[in-house]
Amino acid sequence: MSESPMLDIDQIDSYYVDSHILHGVQLSVGAGRRVALLGRNGAGKSTLLKSVMNAGPRVKGSIRFEGRELGDLATHKRTRLGLSLVPEDRRIFTHLTVAENITMARYGANPSRPPVGVDEIVARFPMLAPLTARYGGQLSGGQQQLLAVARAMAANPSLLLLDEPTEGLAPIIVEEMARDVVRTCAEHNTALLLCEQNIWFARRCTHEVYVMDTGRVMFHGDWDEFDRNPHIQQRYLAL
Ligand SMILES: Nc1ncnc2c1ncn2[C@@H]1O[C@H](COP(=O)(O)OP(=O)(O)O)[C@@H](O)[C@H]1O
Ligand SMILES: [Mg+2]
Repeated sequence: MSESPMLDIDQIDSYYVDSHILHGVQLSVGAGRRVALLGRNGAGKSTLLKSVMNAGPRVKGSIRFEGRELGDLATHKRTRLGLSLVPEDRRIFTHLTVAENITMARYGANPSRPPVGVDEIVARFPMLAPLTARYGGQLSGGQQQLLAVARAMAANPSLLLLDEPTEGLAPIIVEEMARDVVRTCAEHNTALLLCEQNIWFARRCTHEVYVMDTGRVMFHGDWDEFDRNPHIQQRYLAL
């Protein structure tokens, strides 16, 4: 691991108007590392990702990316630095084809990391191969989720932020997404911060795990440590 992490979130507090959601959150992602953030509904996972992108909450504290303090830098400028968020609501272009959706990803991306072409993305996400000429709006919910992830990877971000990409997906698609995401991240040395409730998928995709509850980090370790602390799972992740 390098001395200072790629993403370094240091003691942030996040607010929506006067609701205080995140409390002293500390989290870091090393270059090329893949990190999961687990927690129940309402724990603050999406708020953390939005805080990193400056896309909603008001943030106090420090967020550094590649050594640079992000401060109040606008969302699109964070994208140009190599950060990319796939939000809960996906936002694929329904009136563009799958291939066009993927091509669009290059606009606004980090100019120093060349975008990944449609052919390569489709080779990496084989379920999209028969769908390239379909309109986004014609895809099933699961296909749209896969497209949203594939499109984000086409921008070749150095850090990809995924917000519960498996929510509502059939198990077969979850498995496929795990394989495709891990392979593509590894090939492009893309770091990942993955919010999930699906522990199986999170484990498949990442090296280390944070657990959050009521806006606070309750656990951080690798998956072996996670397994050695079953009370973490019972207390913060059980339904
Ligand atoms: N736009 C918003 N305005 C006010 N409160 C919000 C907003 N979005 C989320 N919250 C609240 O912030 C808390 C954390 O939500 P969220 O970050 O979405 O959790 P998670 O992604 O872990 O389910 C919840 O109590 C939620 O109701
Ligand atoms: Mg969420």
